[in-house]
Amino acid sequence: MLQATIESILQEERLFQPPADFSQTARINSLEAYQRLYQQAIADPETFWANLAAQELHWFQKWEKVLDWQPPFAQWFVGGQLNMSYNCLDRHLTDGRRDKLALIWEGEPGDGRTFTYAQLHQEVCQMANVLKQLGVQKGDRVGIYLPMIPEAAIAMLACARIGAPHTVVFGGFSAEALKSRLQDAQAKLVITADGGWRKDAIVPLKDQVDRALADQAVPSVQHVLVVQRTGQEVSMTPDRDRWWHELQATASSDCPAEPMDSEDLLFILYTSGTTGKPKGVVHTTGGYNLFSHITAQWIFDIKDSDILWCTADVGWITGHSYVVYGPLSNGATTLMYEGAPRASNPGCFWDVIEKYRVTIFYTAPTAIRSFIKTGEAVPAARDLSSLRLLGSVGEPINPSAWMWYYQVIGGERCPIVDTWWQTETGGILISPLPGAIPTKPGSATLPFPGIVADVVDMEGNPVGANQGGYLVIKQPWPGMLRTLYNSPDRYRTTYWEPIPPKNGNYLYFTGDSARKDSDGYYWIMGRVDDVIKIAGHRLGSAEIESALVAHEAVAEAAVVGRPEESKGEEIVAFVILEDGYVPSDALVQELKQHVVATIGAIARPSEIRFGDALPKTRSGKIMRRVLRALASGETVAGDISTLEDHNVLEQLRA
Ligand code: PRX
Repeated sequence: MLQATIESILQEERLFQPPADFSQTARINSLEAYQRLYQQAIADPETFWANLAAQELHWFQKWEKVLDWQPPFAQWFVGGQLNMSYNCLDRHLTDGRRDKLALIWEGEPGDGRTFTYAQLHQEVCQMANVLKQLGVQKGDRVGIYLPMIPEAAIAMLACARIGAPHTVVFGGFSAEALKSRLQDAQAKLVITADGGWRKDAIVPLKDQVDRALADQAVPSVQHVLVVQRTGQEVSMTPDRDRWWHELQATASSDCPAEPMDSEDLLFILYTSGTTGKPKGVVHTTGGYNLFSHITAQWIFDIKDSDILWCTADVGWITGHSYVVYGPLSNGATTLMYEGAPRASNPGCFWDVIEKYRVTIFYTAPTAIRSFIKTGEAVPAARDLSSLRLLGSVGEPINPSAWMWYYQVIGGERCPIVDTWWQTETGGILISPLPGAIPTKPGSATLPFPGIVADVVDMEGNPVGANQGGYLVIKQPWPGMLRTLYNSPDRYRTTYWEPIPPKNGNYLYFTGDSARKDSDGYYWIMGRVDDVIKIAGHRLGSAEIESALVAHEAVAEAAVVGRPEESKGEEIVAFVILEDGYVPSDALVQELKQHVVATIGAIARPSEIRFGDALPKTRSGKIMRRVLRALASGETVAGDISTLEDHNVLEQLRA
C-alpha cells in the first residue's frame, strides 16, 4: 500500500483552482495576495508578526522586543503582557459577539449544550475562582483528563485565565501514562470526570485517576476535581476529591484575567518521541495566541457566520489550537462532539453537520478512509450543503481519499486544506490558503506566510525538486515550542542538532521526510524517526517497547509501524521471551492487553512475532529498517552486512 501511495502521489498532476465564489469573499483571495504576504514576511519577519500581534490581539502591555532569538531558544513579544482567556472571551463581550454562540456541544448519547460568549465567559470565570479556592496559583500546573465535554474547554480557559499552565492528557491514555505525565509536570490539581462516553461504552476516567495517584505516586497533586458526566458511582477520596458542579455553583463569576508575560507558560502537552519517555512540549502565551489565532483565521477563512467543527480530541494539539484557542480567539463558533463514527452509527458525523449547519469541517485522513469504506450512501442521505471548506490533518492523505472527500463530502464545491504541522509547531505551518492557493490532491501545498521551510539532506543542503529529503524550518515562528519541560538539552538535541548548525544557522528538524515539486509544493512522505502514526495519533516505538519489556515474559522487544490501508500505520512488535516462556496465542493476547493497560487502546499492537533474537548491528543497535521490511513482508534491501546473525531474519519473517 505504501508503494502504491508513493506511486500515485508521484503521478499526481491534478490541480484544483480555488472556487471563484470562495475566493471572492476569502480573507486572502488570490495567489498574488498570498505571495505578497509571503514576501512581506520574508523581507521583514519582525514587522510582519508585530503588525499582526498588534492588530489581532489585545495586550495589557505592549512588548519591547518582537523576537529574541538565541538559537535554539526563542522569545516572542518580550515584555508584552496579555491573557489568552481574555483574548478568547472578554474582548468578545464588547465587540458585538456577547450573545453569539461560542461553543456548541453535541454529547455522545444525544444530549447537547450551547454557550454564548457571555455564558462561556461566566463559566470560565467561576471555574477560575474554583481553582484559586483549591489553592492553584499562577504558575502551578493543572492536569486535565476529561472526555470531549464543554468542561474540557472551560477548564483550559480557566487555567489560562489565572496563569496556571495546563497539561491535557488524552482520555484514551491509561492510568500509567497519565501518572508519568502528571509526575513530570508536577501537577497540583487534576480535573477529570466520573466517566466519559467512547463508542457506546463508558470509560471510567475517575478510576484511572485514582490508580494513577495511588500510593502517593504523584505527591504534588493536592486535589482532584470531578465533573459529573455519566452519573456512575465513583469513589471520592475525602479532602482530596471535589465535585466540579458543587464548587462551580457557589463560585463568584468575577475573576479578571491575570496579565501574563508573553513568554509565560500557557501549556505543556506531552507527545511521543524516540525514547520511552514522552516529551513535554512547552507553549507560551503570546506567540501561541497569535499563531493559533492567525492560522485559524487565514487557513479556515473564518467568518462570523461560520460554524467550525474540528473533530480532534482536546487531548491532542489539534484540539488545543483548532477546537478551543484558535476559533475562540477569533470570536468564531466552535463545535465539539463527544462521539466518534462507529459501527452502530456510521453516519453520526454527517448528522452533526446537518443538525448544526456546520460550514468548516476539519478531520483526519483515517476518518475519511473509514467513511469511504462505509459507502457514499451514508453521507448522501444527509444534507451537507452547509459545508464550504474541508480540512485534513495528522497524517498524509492519499490522493484517492482526497478526491473522495472533495467529491462526496464537499460536493466539488469546497476547497480542501491539507494542513501539515506538529504538536511542537503550535499551529499549521504548511497548508493551502483556501481562497488563494490551488490544491493538488495529496500535497499540503505551500508554507504559511512567515514560515520558511525547505527539504534538505543530512548536512542541511537543499535537495533538488522532487528529491526526497528532510523537512526543516529555517526561521523561528511565534507558535514554535519553546523547550521541552524540564529537558532543555533534549529540546536542543531532538530538534536543532540532528542537522548540525552551520555558522549559527539552526534548522528545526521536523522528523518528517518530504519532497518539493517543481511548483514548490510540499508532499509530506512520513516520519523518518521511530514515531508511528496510527490513525493520526502519535506514538513512539520506544514507549511501546518499554511497555512490553515491563511484562515478566518479555526479555527484549522492538516495535515498528507497518503501512495499513485505513489507519495509515499499524503496530508490529517483535518479542524475545525470557527463558521458561513459550510463544502461544494466549501470550499474544496477554501482551497486547498489557500494552493497552500501560499506554492505552491506541497503542494495541496488531501483530506480535516471537523470535530468539532481534536483528542488530555489531555495535548492538536494533536494525529497525530490517524489522520494518520483515513486518510488511518485503525483501530486506540495503546493506545488512553488519547484521550479527542472519538466521534471525528467517525466524522473524514468519
Ligand atoms: O508526520 C507528520 C504528521 O503528524 C506528525 C505530527 O504529529 P502530532 O504532533 O501528533 O500532530 C498532529 C496534528 C498536527 C507530523 O510530524 N502530519 C501531521 N499533519 C500532516 C502530517 N503528515 C502529512 N500530512 C499532514 N497534513
